[in-house]
Amino acid sequence: MKIIPGPSSTELGRKIAEILGVETVSVAHKKFPDSESYIRLEEEVKGEEIVIVQSTGPPQDTNLIQLFILADAAKDLGAKRIIAIVPYLAYARQDKRFLPGEAISIQTIGKLLKTSGIDELITVNVHESKVLEKFEIPAKSISAIGLLADYFKSKGLERAFALAPDEGAAEFAIEASKVLGGDYGWLHKERDRYTGEVRTEEKNLDVSGKDAIIFDDIISTGGTTANAVKILRKQGARRVFAACVHPLMIGNAKERILQAGAEEIVGTDSVPSNVTIVSLAPLLAKALAEKIKG
Ligand code: R5P
Repeated sequence: MKIIPGPSSTELGRKIAEILGVETVSVAHKKFPDSESYIRLEEEVKGEEIVIVQSTGPPQDTNLIQLFILADAAKDLGAKRIIAIVPYLAYARQDKRFLPGEAISIQTIGKLLKTSGIDELITVNVHESKVLEKFEIPAKSISAIGLLADYFKSKGLERAFALAPDEGAAEFAIEASKVLGGDYGWLHKERDRYTGEVRTEEKNLDVSGKDAIIFDDIISTGGTTANAVKILRKQGARRVFAACVHPLMIGNAKERILQAGAEEIVGTDSVPSNVTIVSLAPLLAKALAEKIKG
């Protein structure tokens, strides 16, 4: 097995290779003046099982096309099999027709993964795991919530209240509470499909005098998390922390959440960002090691 650390996940790919003690294949890459991507594999891949590590956070379209070009090139150069590790799977939130006539974009991505020569996909906390069932290649999503909860536990936040900022994230609060050993809950959120504006309903949470941590899969503009921080502060939470697997951190998301009253925001290296603290490398290396063992 050889690992190709893709341009968007060079450090993460190298860390996974180091944990597993497998060779990496370097990638030379650049952008042409018109923004097209150039890719060259600098070592042999012929006859090898290849793992491409390439997350598809912003700029999503560039990172996706680089993933497709890398996979196609590796197959063309004789790779036996390709596993793609794509921690953040772009377009997974567009998984149905919310408004008439909309594209189900993740369906298109699924088709392109297969067409580009990828045989198997491993992703992390995909927004809606049902979308993977429709892919024509084996695809699984593993959860990094335990890693995030471990981080807070090691900082002495044992028994902190785990809050999901919407019903879709309730499973994260439950998972985190198993590590933290405290209570959990979730809020109800609605998003305006035209403006993207988020409205969160306040409900009574038993957080007065307690530390609380908000767990979500994605922080994008920060609106969802900021609303949850404000509700926790209003209800007397002692300290409020925010955690997410995929820190897209668009615009002033970080400032918005801190200004709402959060002490710290913690994300993973799924998407390198200004809040990336926890590495997915041990989790992904374990998933690959299980595969090697068969
Ligand atoms: C959507 O439901 C996701 O789980 C996140 O809550 C959402 O993507 C966060 O977006 P934003 O940070 O823009 O509110």
